[in-house]
Amino acid sequence: MAADPSFTVIGHRGARGHAPENTLLAIDTGIRLGSHMVEIDVQLHSGELIVIHDLRVDRTTNGHGRVDALSLAQLRALDAGQGQRIPTLGEVLDLVEGRVPVNIELKTGAGTAEAVAAHLRGLLEANATPEQFLVSSFHLPELYEFRQLLPQVPIGVLLCGVPLDWAACAAELQAECVNLSDEFVDERLIADIKNQGRRVYVYTVNEPEDMHRLRAMGVDGVFTDYPDRALKLIAQ
Ligand code: G3P
Ligand code: MG
Repeated sequence: MAADPSFTVIGHRGARGHAPENTLLAIDTGIRLGSHMVEIDVQLHSGELIVIHDLRVDRTTNGHGRVDALSLAQLRALDAGQGQRIPTLGEVLDLVEGRVPVNIELKTGAGTAEAVAAHLRGLLEANATPEQFLVSSFHLPELYEFRQLLPQVPIGVLLCGVPLDWAACAAELQAECVNLSDEFVDERLIADIKNQGRRVYVYTVNEPEDMHRLRAMGVDGVFTDYPDRALKLIAQ
């Protein structure tokens, strides 16, 4: 999580406003546009970590059905848009090559944390640094497991609402950041999270007026399908 500008622009699913989401093209586009970090969604499938958001392939590819009903070979043969394939985590990290930190969102449970930790451990033993990654999830037990397995890698608690025990969860997980939906953000919550010593990132923010509003409220960064818009705002 090395990127630490005053307002962190995180390319959502690469830069899904500009290229087919979660593809190598979208991730490269997100970086080329100047994102400080790129976010991807990762699922464990037959022992392989693949980069796709939905549990079905219908919305983002030319295929049909549930991801877990298709073989890895069938998934990899699909067109994910503009001739792109569903990439693996390894392919994404090879492409990024440490240019920006990668936020790896664990979409599935049941072994995903373990598989991601094993993959990242291998990279850390080579030449990667923990700050090149931010691992997050809505699945907090899975995130907890990741924290135990690879404590040096920063993690982010993902919330789609505001549970009563959010502060205890963030503390227990020793999360570097809390990633909130724009629907549930307010000034008091932001202040409470920051008083805990954590950063606050908000998803998914595509309108410049919302980016401006959140920045003025003290949010540390946004996930956006249009990193260029947030970067333009910062430059103004
Ligand atoms: O990590 C932020 C955001 O990606 C979480 O929601 O559904 O877009 O993965 P979703
Ligand atoms: Mg995501």
